[in-house]
Amino acid sequence: LQHLLTTEGLPVRILRDILDKASGFVSLAEGHEIKKVPLLHGKSVFNIFFENSTRTRTTFEIAAKKLSADVVNLNIGSSSTSKGETLLDTVDNLCAMHADMFVVRHSTSGAAHLIAKHVAPSIHVINAGDGRHAHPTQALLDMFTIRHYKQDFHNLRVAIVGDILHSRVARSQIHALTTLGVPEVRVVAPKTLLPTHVEKLGVRVYHDMAQGLKDVDVVMMLRLQNERMQGALLPSAQEYFKYYGLTQERLALARSDAIVMHPGPMNRGVEIDSSVADGAQSVILPQVTFGIAVRMAVMSTLAGSKQ
Ligand code: CP
Repeated sequence: LQHLLTTEGLPVRILRDILDKASGFVSLAEGHEIKKVPLLHGKSVFNIFFENSTRTRTTFEIAAKKLSADVVNLNIGSSSTSKGETLLDTVDNLCAMHADMFVVRHSTSGAAHLIAKHVAPSIHVINAGDGRHAHPTQALLDMFTIRHYKQDFHNLRVAIVGDILHSRVARSQIHALTTLGVPEVRVVAPKTLLPTHVEKLGVRVYHDMAQGLKDVDVVMMLRLQNERMQGALLPSAQEYFKYYGLTQERLALARSDAIVMHPGPMNRGVEIDSSVADGAQSVILPQVTFGIAVRMAVMSTLAGSKQ
């Protein structure tokens, strides 16, 4: 694997290899401590984030340091892109500084693909979220979390709830879940927040929370991606919570051992009630910790690939 740009079409063998490799980096003891290893010693990882991030950017930095790489975080706000330099000119300059790997977040779908096509074959590119298209490492850490708590994928009902239309996370999750053999993937959302023909992705469509959550093993919540809804008629937070907010009462319709996930950032009282976000079934913070191990697995897999 030269680059990781999407989970769409990623062979199940590679998905499983990454999850297995991540398992080797994380302690199963309470706290899920992550090991430091020398696998990327002497390599330079450049984090170039043209969009805000708390979890992805920070866990990539921690993951690269745990792999003993040198890490450079480009501050886009104070970079020369604000003076009109193009994305590819910026990348060329970072290549001249001997970058070995780029971790890229951009508001434009396809930005990471563009960079991957442009750079020399010895350089690896990881998509850390492009527009509404893909967020593959988020999906991989979500798969790792599901496997950690549920052991297997083959007997699960999984519901993805919320703004599917604007969500790169949902798209990447659906591709990963179906490739790993989850027999029933549901999407639960109002019609206005679903892509047309979403069922072609192999999911069952629900518009009603009570029906969509009935007997599921995993509930994956999404926030309203207001920043990608230019011109759209936004539901008010109260209105949205009334029909699609995850409350204790609604969660009680899922299996009693169901886990609740959220990629973050969370909007409490909009898509999720605080009592659920902080409740016994929530695995939202372990997701973040597992993200370090999964990103280590992705970076070491790419670095070990033959050009
Ligand atoms: N899940 C996720 O991508 O979060 P950040 O935007 O904080 O990186």
